[in-house]
Amino acid sequence: MKVLVTGGAGFIGSNIVDALVARGDSVRVLDNLSTGHEANLADVAERIEFLKTDLRDAAAVMSACKGVDLVFHEGALPSVPRSVDDPATSFAVNALGTLNVLLAAKECGVKRVVYAASSSAYGDTAVLPKREDMLQQPQSPYAADKVHGENLCRVFTRVYGLECVALRYFNVFGPRQRPDSAYAAVIPKFVDALLRGEAVHIHGDGKQSRDFTYISDVVKANLLAAEAASAPGQVLNIGAGGRTDLLTLLHEIAACLGVPANAVHGPDRAGDVRDSQADIGLAQRILGYNPNTPLSTGIAATVKWFRAQHAANARERKLS
Ligand SMILES: NC(=O)c1ccc[n+]([C@@H]2O[C@H](COP(=O)([O-])OP(=O)(O)OC[C@H]3O[C@@H](n4cnc5c(N)ncnc54)[C@H](O)[C@@H]3O)[C@@H](O)[C@H]2O)c1
Repeated sequence: MKVLVTGGAGFIGSNIVDALVARGDSVRVLDNLSTGHEANLADVAERIEFLKTDLRDAAAVMSACKGVDLVFHEGALPSVPRSVDDPATSFAVNALGTLNVLLAAKECGVKRVVYAASSSAYGDTAVLPKREDMLQQPQSPYAADKVHGENLCRVFTRVYGLECVALRYFNVFGPRQRPDSAYAAVIPKFVDALLRGEAVHIHGDGKQSRDFTYISDVVKANLLAAEAASAPGQVLNIGAGGRTDLLTLLHEIAACLGVPANAVHGPDRAGDVRDSQADIGLAQRILGYNPNTPLSTGIAATVKWFRAQHAANARERKLS
């Protein structure tokens, strides 16, 4: 099967690429390397086609979709604070970029598009766990743009018969997630800071909670979504189904590293939601999705990857 992965040089995209290559698919990656890295594709570089292309370039996206059976659309600027700083670029990449992918997929006869939607669609609801039939209440430009993308997916299935499935990811973490951006997710930031012997920075009291979902479960969800007969037109939660607050998370990571759990608290962050937890019942029924990585196992694998990265960086510094 010929598969296009947009954002394939990123954290989630590159892990999907690995799984596709391992099962023998012919893989094309579209990425402009704005937040992604070619190093994420180093192990499979000889076996994939890489297009350094921008999602905002409709003609280039159209040509990337030629001859493709299946698209995993992971490409985006995936950050709430970045979108608050620059909502126009967030809209151009996340919303219009998704329209470009769907138009190209329709035109090129792609059989199915699996779209990386976001749990940020729910906003700051008091009701937990969050279910797909709850109101969309985006609280940031990023969340609004991702909701626009999933609405387009629904519409393209209904109006044009293009099979689209939107997966609302809940705080994905694991190897290859970067700590070195102002917009980085919390787990890589915590692991990286503690490995350097620094205190972690927490916005607010640290009692805000998230449904941390390990990358291998998210990759499995994507492969299932590409096949499941009743998935087209659906928006499905992809989480672990649990909830952990940041202070508990910090202590888990510190214990795994064998270091003190030092934290510095700052003000709350604009656009952030307080609590998040997925109801994964619909994804279980429609996809047969069954996340099976406990948080502690995921943290251990992530810490192992970070230790290897730090060791490799230290070797490089010594040589130069
Ligand atoms: N990581 C999470 O917890 C999470 C949660 C919800 C949704 N998502 C969604 O999952 C997808 C993947 O996120 P990730 O965590 O792997 O982030 P990432 O930043 O590692 O990956 C995004 C990729 O998209 C590429 N990209 C960005 N702008 C582009 C453009 N204009 N043209 C082409 N490529 C472009 C980047 O270079 C990068 O490789 C995103 O759509 C994101 O919105 C992620």
